[in-house]
Amino acid sequence: MKPDTILVLDLGGQYCHLISRRIREQQVYSEIIQCDVTPKEIEALNKKLNVKGIILSGGPSSVYTKNAPKIDSRILDLNIPILGLCYGHQLIIYLSNGKVKLGKKQEYGVTYITVDKPVGILKNLNQKEKVWMSHGDIVFELPDEYEILAHTNSCPIAAYRHKKRSIYGLQWHPEVIHTDNGTQMLKNYIFDICKCHANWKTEEFVEKAIQKIKDGIGNKKAISALSGGVDSSLATILASKAIGKNVIAVFVDNGFMREGEADFVREVFKGLDVEVTLINAKKRFFEKLRGSKDPEKKRIIIGNEFIAVFEEVARNIKAEYLIQGTIYPDRIESGIRNHSEKIKTHHNVGGIPSKIEFKGIIEPLKDLYKDEVRKIAETLELPQKIIWRQPFPGPGLAVRVTGEVTEEKVDIVRKADKIVEEEIDKSEIKRKLWQYFAVLIDTKSTGVKGDVRVYGYTIVIRAVESKEAMTASFAKIPYDILEKMSTRITNELPSVTRVVFDITHKPPATIEWE
Ligand code: XMP
Repeated sequence: MKPDTILVLDLGGQYCHLISRRIREQQVYSEIIQCDVTPKEIEALNKKLNVKGIILSGGPSSVYTKNAPKIDSRILDLNIPILGLCYGHQLIIYLSNGKVKLGKKQEYGVTYITVDKPVGILKNLNQKEKVWMSHGDIVFELPDEYEILAHTNSCPIAAYRHKKRSIYGLQWHPEVIHTDNGTQMLKNYIFDICKCHANWKTEEFVEKAIQKIKDGIGNKKAISALSGGVDSSLATILASKAIGKNVIAVFVDNGFMREGEADFVREVFKGLDVEVTLINAKKRFFEKLRGSKDPEKKRIIIGNEFIAVFEEVARNIKAEYLIQGTIYPDRIESGIRNHSEKIKTHHNVGGIPSKIEFKGIIEPLKDLYKDEVRKIAETLELPQKIIWRQPFPGPGLAVRVTGEVTEEKVDIVRKADKIVEEEIDKSEIKRKLWQYFAVLIDTKSTGVKGDVRVYGYTIVIRAVESKEAMTASFAKIPYDILEKMSTRITNELPSVTRVVFDITHKPPATIEWE
């Protein structure tokens, strides 16, 4: 059976993939496609999918910028319900001969809309709704065949619809959690407007993924880059189900691991019947990083060195393929798409040198979000301590020490991280948190310990709540827990004189500091 599908046309927005994720959450299939798709190509897609709706994503451009991404305007006439979000909202009106201009005030963050007509996409919503906006341009004049559905103080046309056809535009982002009733808005679009059935389930993913790995690797050998997190563990297990003993999991200890990491991985995989090769590469990673302060350079150096180690292992065992647990957000934020901004190079994506020795890199989870990965890992009965492990960046503690990385600093941040983890793990709040960890920043400050002046390091405590790491809110950790952590860190780590708590959401910050 062909799944009912909503296509998301990628106009370069950071949240483009989040839209698709939110749709899949409703058990409706969604695919992201390049924005220059033609009506003919959409027709062709209909042979395997039931295209019931098309969403135009946001994006960093202005409709007036040279080379700004556009869509084929005939798509608006396909008689498939259309929804434009942010830049997509402006683009529809621009292509329909309405007017878009630079807003007097740029709006970033939470704002309140007034709903003028609670119909269509805004059905069942309150007159005032909290939404998340991030834009410069605004729509300021609609063509005659459109009508206003909502406004804000600085955005007179925050939502609109076509009077006769199913075309809607929202200036805000219903897909981010900061829009209180964003899910309701998307449900209105998916089920009421597009008339989709909820007939897509993640369970089917496993079978297809195993087949794809089999087809891609055949009877050759592969190594799997295993970090012990849920992504690389699931990728490894899928590979092992697909090609059995022809996959060897390789765990590289680069010196930037959390306390006890190597033992943890060894112990867990012993029970899963997967061969793991542990490589101690601490020395070479520290040497390569010496003198580098720039976060992006650090990420690239670490990515390159990882690949160099994997290539050496692969050469030894004659493996031709590399399996990685890269997931959607890693690729999005590394700027894989045509019109999007690069935020940071996730080491397992952009950090890969263009000349690699592998015949192919296989990324079975590349279209999934973390919560989907966890769901699938549950169905395969991976150990709970892997499934619910905190996400940890590929470059590890090297990006939790800002500026130059030294063994001393990594050692301090590792111990501080353990304290943060231990204190949070004792508390109920743990269940609400996506990540909690320590960062050591490059700035020293004056302290006094035992009546003696100490000019020491600063540790930042970072704790966030999130659903999929594309957006996050800083966690409201109770003061007594913060106090406990601060006291322990300054007592147990003589060279730390100050502990601070990071109170920034993502956006505008990212979760990690580098
Ligand atoms: P940011 O800092 O971009 O992080 O808000 C989003 C999520 O991704 C994790 N992260 C990484 N994961 N390789 C990974 O596999 C990386 O290079 C990397 N950098 C950040 C981060 O911990 C958070 O969960």
